[in-house]
Amino acid sequence: MDSFKSIPFDGLLKAGLDTPSPAIMDAWLNRFHCGDTLDLMGQMPAQSVDLVVTSPPYNLKQSSGNGMKNGNGGKWPKASLMKGYEAHGDCMPHGDYVAWQRDCLTAMMRLIKPTGAIFYNHKWRVQRGLLQDRADILEGFPVRQIIIWQRKGGINFNPGYFLPTYEVIYLIAKPDFRLAPKANAVGDAWEIPQESNNPHPAPFPVELAQRCIGSTDAKVILDPFMGSGTTAIAAESEGRKWIGIEKSKDYCRLAKERIAVYRKQR
Ligand SMILES: C[S@@+](CC[C@H](N)C(=O)[O-])C[C@H]1O[C@@H](n2cnc3c(N)ncnc32)[C@H](O)[C@@H]1O
Repeated sequence: MDSFKSIPFDGLLKAGLDTPSPAIMDAWLNRFHCGDTLDLMGQMPAQSVDLVVTSPPYNLKQSSGNGMKNGNGGKWPKASLMKGYEAHGDCMPHGDYVAWQRDCLTAMMRLIKPTGAIFYNHKWRVQRGLLQDRADILEGFPVRQIIIWQRKGGINFNPGYFLPTYEVIYLIAKPDFRLAPKANAVGDAWEIPQESNNPHPAPFPVELAQRCIGSTDAKVILDPFMGSGTTAIAAESEGRKWIGIEKSKDYCRLAKERIAVYRKQR
């Protein structure tokens, strides 16, 4: 099923106008699907989710500086990411990475309804003296707003750099997307501490995913890079349904364990 990749961008805004049947959706909802995100998103019915909340691999090992290469954690506080992810090296040639992420965003655009949106968490960085602001990934996609996620401290191993404390969240929205009532009073800079106590090398905090989901009336939330299951926990805490996709079997296991613990404590 390669059909969505050949749909022109305008077509993606209108693609698949039929509502998917509940029987088909039952196989997807409130489950972690372990496998490649493009393969699995390609198997999902068009317009079957209201919202995507996700943080892709940042390709951090493909770096012009020493940060992730010099064996001591460099300027990145999470030294564990130096090994990449369990099932993804995080070191693609930049052009391949951009093409892959554009394919992933195209697949997400096919899956959201005309009222849908994507919260796409990424990181800006300076490469060879110039800002890498991810414009190459996002060109042509309907970016509506950029939210700054201000994290708390961390450990800086590099004496030449200030401690990095922010990431960005691109709100990519189809034309009919609206925030939940009163959410437009919330500012566009969110101060939320990063996750501690999570064995995944790059989780975002439950509170961050809750803020995204709680700012909308979305009923079904997809995270195509589910990692340790954070978006699933946030969705359940907000009383919504979710679909999680993750390549690593270890992280799928971790996500299942985390949501089981969450459900018991609830
Ligand atoms: C930044 S992490 C997401 C972390 C997640 N937000 C959390 O809180 O745990 C990105 C995830 O994408 C996964 N990944 C990488 N390539 C993938 C692929 N082709 N298909 C599905 N998942 C993939 C990695 O294994 C990693 O867990």
